[in-house]
Amino acid sequence: LASNRYDIQRGNFAKATQQDINYFKDILSSQSAVITDAEELIGSNTDWLRVVRGSGPVLLKPENTEQVSKIMQYCNNRNLAVVPQGGKTGLVGGGVPVFDEIILSTSRMNNVIDVDKISGTLVCQPGCILQELEDRLDSDNFILPYDLGARGSCHIGGNLSTNAGGIRLVRYGSLHGSVLGVEAVLADGTVLDCMSTCRKDNTGYDLKQLFIGSEGTLGIITKVAIALAQKPRAQCVALIGCNNFENVKQVFSSARKDLCEYLSACEFMDSKIMSLVENHLKLTNPVQTSSFYVLIEASGSSEQYCKTALLDFLETLIESKVIKEGIVADNSVQIKDVWALRERVLEACQHDGYVFKYDVSLPLRVFYNIVDDLRSRLGSQAKSIGGYGHIGDGNLHINITCEEYNKQLEKAIEPYIFEWIGKYKGSVSAEHGMGFIKRKYMNYSKSEAAYNTMKGIKQLLDPKRRMMDI
Ligand code: FAD
Ligand code: MLT
Ligand code: ZN
Repeated sequence: LASNRYDIQRGNFAKATQQDINYFKDILSSQSAVITDAEELIGSNTDWLRVVRGSGPVLLKPENTEQVSKIMQYCNNRNLAVVPQGGKTGLVGGGVPVFDEIILSTSRMNNVIDVDKISGTLVCQPGCILQELEDRLDSDNFILPYDLGARGSCHIGGNLSTNAGGIRLVRYGSLHGSVLGVEAVLADGTVLDCMSTCRKDNTGYDLKQLFIGSEGTLGIITKVAIALAQKPRAQCVALIGCNNFENVKQVFSSARKDLCEYLSACEFMDSKIMSLVENHLKLTNPVQTSSFYVLIEASGSSEQYCKTALLDFLETLIESKVIKEGIVADNSVQIKDVWALRERVLEACQHDGYVFKYDVSLPLRVFYNIVDDLRSRLGSQAKSIGGYGHIGDGNLHINITCEEYNKQLEKAIEPYIFEWIGKYKGSVSAEHGMGFIKRKYMNYSKSEAAYNTMKGIKQLLDPKRRMMDI
């Protein structure tokens, strides 16, 4: 349980009674929308990484905004704490209870409300699964302006709530730029309508932005409007081997210059990470063993240009001795295989043992130094130390594994790693959020004034702190 490992500050909240359960059954008018069976609740109480487990006594599955509003209003009157839950793929323990919060799942709020094919906008409920949205939009030649390896399970509401980054941010930017409208239910049940499908709206404060990346601390997202991107006609992917990190940086800056608007992803992984993927998942690395690997995706309107540009790009890099070797995948099976090497890193690390996960932003000039530094600091205390991530966004994932959870190792890593990041004005959470696990390290990336302003907003929207605290 979370309370065994973490210092849980449970507020003075009420505990759900049978009378409360009866009320929820009444308003949701379906037995299957109110789950109280202890066995069934284990999954909803446990996070994806299996490091946080709470004891939420009931899981609610409303279908619409009105039901969410009634639940929140009732819970406000009864002083019950609530945690919103999407696809439960979050990596910082945010989407599950840490004590006995009521779990409000968006899994049945999964309707697409409108796809406007002329303006290229989507309006939907928050529980739509990313992969299902991608499949549905495909025939109309649209894609969502973001994508991530958790697409098979994560919800669009969860994606907004965490301001998910993912593998295409280098091209389409963050959700703060592409979300057009949000409807949210506040902690007291008020429905805050910030829905719009217009790209431009400068009528005062842009309140919807508060819900993008606030991880369910201010309210529950119940509707989303988002600007879609055109599906590229052509896509090619290169996997490149590099001798050192300087060359990785050169590959990135050359890709921006040479591939220009065709560059749609720039990811990297080090040799440790590649060896975990090869050994634990039995995937095949198609290039010769190297210290680093870079995955470059090019996509756009011309199939002919896409492949030629990528091949020319590789040739120039080989000629100038920046890279050792690279391969280009241009059919869908090969492309999927190359992407699997990168997208299944997390799964490979999970097979290696207990994983201490860090998701940081750092300036590229010192980007990988932190991994080398941690290797010399931790020595044989750790089983594997690997770096990978979205180098195109300056976002590094550092995974440190050991046989089982080890307090001493944790103490050797933290707060050292956060101090390191603070020194270079990086971010202690580039894309996964603060959740329950990382929120205590906010001060390494937020000034006192900024944090106090956040607390003021929290106080305004959730004065009883019945949703996750910040
Ligand atoms: P959950 O895990 O259910 O919830 C996440 C947080 O949002 C919680 O705090 C929860 O309370 C809150 N929340 C959920 N729904 C709502 C709502 N409707 N209203 C208000 N709050 C809500 N993340 C990235 O950024 N980039 C990646 O590339 C990436 N790749 C991943 C790959 C894998 C294999 C996995 C397992 C995870 C990955 N993640 C990545 C992390 C995770 O997928 C994202 O954070 C995702 O956006 C979470 O969505 P979810 O629906 O699973 O949300
Ligand atoms: C990724 O980039 O693969 C995800 O953010 C998940 C992870 O941290 O491994
Ligand atoms: Zn990531």
